[in-house]
Amino acid sequence: MKAGGDIMAWADPFFPDPSIPESVKKVLHEAVDQGFASHYSMPIGDLLLRKTLAAYITKRTGLTIDPSRNIIITPGSDSGLLFSMMPFINEGDEVLVPDPSYPSNFLNGKLLGAKTVPVPLFEEDNYQFRIEEFEKRLSPKTKMVLFCHPNNPTTTVFRRKSIEDLCEFVKKHDLILVSDQAFQDHIYDGIEFVHPAVLPGMWERTLTVCSISKGIGLSGFRIGYIYANDVIMDVLYGAAVNVLGASSTLSTIGAIAAIEDTEHLQQNYIKLEKRRRLAYEILHDIPGVRMKMSESGILSWLNISKLGSSEEVVSRLMSEAKILVNQGNPYGEQGKGYIRIVTGCFWDDEAAVERFKRIRSVLLDMAQERNLVN
Ligand SMILES: Cc1ncc(COP(=O)(O)O)c(C=O)c1O
Repeated sequence: MKAGGDIMAWADPFFPDPSIPESVKKVLHEAVDQGFASHYSMPIGDLLLRKTLAAYITKRTGLTIDPSRNIIITPGSDSGLLFSMMPFINEGDEVLVPDPSYPSNFLNGKLLGAKTVPVPLFEEDNYQFRIEEFEKRLSPKTKMVLFCHPNNPTTTVFRRKSIEDLCEFVKKHDLILVSDQAFQDHIYDGIEFVHPAVLPGMWERTLTVCSISKGIGLSGFRIGYIYANDVIMDVLYGAAVNVLGASSTLSTIGAIAAIEDTEHLQQNYIKLEKRRRLAYEILHDIPGVRMKMSESGILSWLNISKLGSSEEVVSRLMSEAKILVNQGNPYGEQGKGYIRIVTGCFWDDEAAVERFKRIRSVLLDMAQERNLVN
């Protein structure tokens, strides 16, 4: 950032510090030396990566994933999210998207000529679903529910009841479910993570979209993946070369090594779990701020409505703490009055803690100005 500031607004683990594990560096060096990474990988993704990911998914879900029938590699999950909607969404259709949610998930339906219908989630419900809010917004044009699990920006892990209710709603109205699980690899406090695709009757109608950017910490490699049943996957396989081209061959080699390096994955988990606790300890008790301990991933979501609008607070943090965080507004109507901080950035805890303290100091000043400090 110009003027010597810090960016805590990219959902990118350890940004801006180097974070490629040694195991991955080694295979990348070897691949470059051998020279064959100059060539295309398959449009649906390299078979060994599909096999490695199929085993990874089976371990987590119990689903049987045929690497040649049920999984496709995408250049990051952003493209995977749009691709997963393309076979189902036509002009005039409607897509239900919980609000707040990842901004792209509001935009993708519109890119395909459909209407995005936000469905509010409420802080007082710990952002779990009220299915009546989905029912109220259903129309004959509704084709799909697209949701982010765990949720970006709130970090919410949808509990079994929420997921079961949502899946019943999807089945009852014959809809397609796209489950954006970019943050699924880091779930804290032993909270159960329920995969919608495993629930009865859901394998036929669910596309699960995942990424190595967050949990595996390799956002720059641009590798995502979608898994679904073979009827759905036939359509995606058929269109892969036209829409995706192919993912990077070099990144594919690195991704396989990273997924197999369970020690590295475990270390990332320990580091990021500690980080969300440090953020909570430093920020949660500021007068006028409401913050819960993050349930997943690398983000913190703060209600700052007593201190000012999202714009005002972000602007003060920029000018006084020299730190860029996200306004809540782009995450939907329900994001107004909130800010999102990427607490999982920087490699060293001390570097992150120093920034959390700078944020605290500005928010405390704002609380004082509003006579919120005793
Ligand atoms: C919820 C969510 N889904 C998907 C993505 C896309 O990530 P990538 O394209 O790096 O896989 C992001 C990126 O921030 C995200 O936050």
